[in-house]
Amino acid sequence: MQSELKQMLSEAAGAIANCRTANDILNTRAQYLGKKSFLNSLYGRLKELSSEERPAFGALINEARTELETKLSAKEQELKASAWEAKQNTDMDLSLPGLYASRGSLHPIKVIRREIDRIFISMGFEIAEGFEIEDEFHNFDALNTPQDHPSRNLADTFYLENGMLLRTQTSTVQIRVMESHKPPIRIISPGRCYRNDKPDPSHSPVFHQVEALVVDKGISMSDLTDTLQNFATLMFGKGVKTRIRPHFFPFTEPSAEMDISCVVCKGAGCRMCKHSGWLEMGGAGMVDPNVFKAVGIDPEIYSGFAFGLGIDRITLLKYGIPDMRILFENDLRMLKQFRGESL
Ligand code: DAH
Repeated sequence: MQSELKQMLSEAAGAIANCRTANDILNTRAQYLGKKSFLNSLYGRLKELSSEERPAFGALINEARTELETKLSAKEQELKASAWEAKQNTDMDLSLPGLYASRGSLHPIKVIRREIDRIFISMGFEIAEGFEIEDEFHNFDALNTPQDHPSRNLADTFYLENGMLLRTQTSTVQIRVMESHKPPIRIISPGRCYRNDKPDPSHSPVFHQVEALVVDKGISMSDLTDTLQNFATLMFGKGVKTRIRPHFFPFTEPSAEMDISCVVCKGAGCRMCKHSGWLEMGGAGMVDPNVFKAVGIDPEIYSGFAFGLGIDRITLLKYGIPDMRILFENDLRMLKQFRGESL
């Protein structure tokens, strides 16, 4: 056994000396030290020896193992060093800093949109998709908007050719959903809207809303206020209060505006809430019977509530971004400061 061991060692020494690459080292190590190596098999053969001979031979095997390990790692170092030298001798400037890939991240609006989706999904809502290019029927007529309503004005709405327009509100999706689905309905629809507004810290011609619509038997105003409060708590945390104030929208009766207690000053009054303690979140109300009639739902059987929230406003509040234009100019130097969850 001993002579076999010696022979193996000299053979291995030759093999190691012949290694040219890291892969050669790997293979040689496997061949002479691996599970199926001759050296490893010797452990099994120890029992062929008498108990006096066994310890000495066991020690020999271990020595051989150490010797091989040492030779292999010496050779490995040698190969690495010569690879380095070879590189040094090329035109490459190894002192230059490395290239690194900059990792993208979601736009703050997208982050908040996802959060809004998650919150409403947790309350049993489904997400409905609408169109950004709409017709007057879905954007105005079916929403009970009179012909002379100011929102139809050319100065407010972007009209396209052949009677189409860029939707001014996500309320269009209420109509689309009720046209194609029977109650019970419980949807939200987030998306882009367009109005002919001059950009300023709180306006942009492109903006985002999320529409909510619930239609079923026996839906009342308290379902609306409950949903609003749940949403506000999940979005802004415990302690945030909500309220509704009377208002007018053509497609709801009664109509309301929704406020949350100022998340900056907790209602005490600050610049953000114009010292009122409240922040406007959007419009709401009970679906007007005329809207139900336009989509063929019987207002004697069904009732519903709807609301539209401004996503951009929520984003500004959550991120502490002072000016809405930052969200749309997409200046990476600004957006990087508000880096959200990664892709
Ligand atoms: N669409 C309205 C707007 O853009 C917001 C709104 C008000 C949506 C009342 C609604 C609602 O669903 O019921 O200002």
